[in-house]
Amino acid sequence: MSHSHDVSDAEEEQIHFANVITTFKNYAQYSLSANNRRRKDFFTLPKADQDLLTTLGYKTKLDQVDTAILANADFLSQVVSDPEIFGHDLGPGDEADPPSDFDLHAAHSHNDVSPGHSHSHGHTHSHSHDGGPRNRRRYKPTDFDMDKLRSTLKQFVRDWSAEGREEREACYKPMKDALLLHFSDVPAAERGRVRVLVPGTGLGRLAHDVAGLGFTCQGNEFSHYMLLSSHFILNRTNKINAHTIYPYVHSFSNVVSHEAMMRPITIPDVLPSDLPDGVNFSLVAGDFEEIYGTESDPDEPQSGKWDAILTCFFIDTAKNIVNYLRIIHNSLAPGGVWVNMGPLLWHWENNTTNDPSIELSLEEVKALARTIGFHISNERTIDTTYTSNSQGMLGYVYHAAFWTATKVG
Ligand SMILES: C[S@@+](CC[C@H](N)C(=O)[O-])C[C@H]1O[C@@H](n2cnc3c(N)ncnc32)[C@H](O)[C@@H]1O
Repeated sequence: MSHSHDVSDAEEEQIHFANVITTFKNYAQYSLSANNRRRKDFFTLPKADQDLLTTLGYKTKLDQVDTAILANADFLSQVVSDPEIFGHDLGPGDEADPPSDFDLHAAHSHNDVSPGHSHSHGHTHSHSHDGGPRNRRRYKPTDFDMDKLRSTLKQFVRDWSAEGREEREACYKPMKDALLLHFSDVPAAERGRVRVLVPGTGLGRLAHDVAGLGFTCQGNEFSHYMLLSSHFILNRTNKINAHTIYPYVHSFSNVVSHEAMMRPITIPDVLPSDLPDGVNFSLVAGDFEEIYGTESDPDEPQSGKWDAILTCFFIDTAKNIVNYLRIIHNSLAPGGVWVNMGPLLWHWENNTTNDPSIELSLEEVKALARTIGFHISNERTIDTTYTSNSQGMLGYVYHAAFWTATKVG
């Protein structure tokens, strides 16, 4: 790709990457100390109350949560065990230096818009910088970092567990069906010549499954949390149910039962490497606007025109939706198809970093798409959750917009 980064961009990127690794490595300490606070609170109670709670198994529960956190930590440390594959040189200064406490010193680049449509944090954007390489050794993951890491665990459930099947059926299946319908005249054996792009691909399941249908498919993603995690599951996991995680042990609120909170989730539910022979499936790291919004590089075979673009819970990550839609339109070949599914939870709304944010209504987005040169069809509303805990006492349902749009202009 021909996008150029100046030195400070590259440096900043590297620092940010190192900070994400540090966040993974500090997960255990951070989460155990949060659980330990509950333990301390318990001991502040009158003895009689402690005894009552003990008969309910409260103390045992706290111990079991510690054990689950350690299991999660083991999994997360495997995810970041070979970060050099990302080409970042992690010197000794980048090694996690376990902090004794956690401050709110933020160091995010724009690379990590919250991976989940997380309600409590969906509008939180903390993007100040950490002052340069000298601070690397001292980086202390923030609550915001840890929230993203916990969201990443839930993203594994959505994309790679049997538990996530219902959500995937609601979101990914209609998109795959629309793709198959649009290219129904292409025999299955020839689908490899149809090039499909999935921007904001998260942990890559939709892109993987599209490749599984025989299409050439490229996922694009810029969050280091997502990239490290998708690399691990796609390239370093060779057994179904190889890993067990406990994504629901971090909050004691809205919990129906001990069993619901402690339930293990095994991943992956399918063998990620189990793709048809010769299929072309790739993931490209970087900013969607930078990679697909600039002139195609003739030396880069994956750049150029796409036959289909699938956006799932993605278009509302735009600061400027006009630019996103223009890029989608420009990247498509004549007659190409854009399949969209998702809500409009504008990620940059109310940001604290002076980033511009344009927030349109659904009607406005569709009018904009038509003006840019799309014919919208197959419209519907799909009710779906997003990384929701199906056994919790709180659940958000999105009335997500779905459409198939063909390039006409
Ligand atoms: C709400 S998540 C949806 C993930 C996935 N499509 C799914 O349905 O599970 C949005 C994703 O888009 C990614 N993203 C946001 N802005 C991006 C950009 N400019 N370039 C590439 N990826 C981006 C985020 O990191 C996040 O993983």
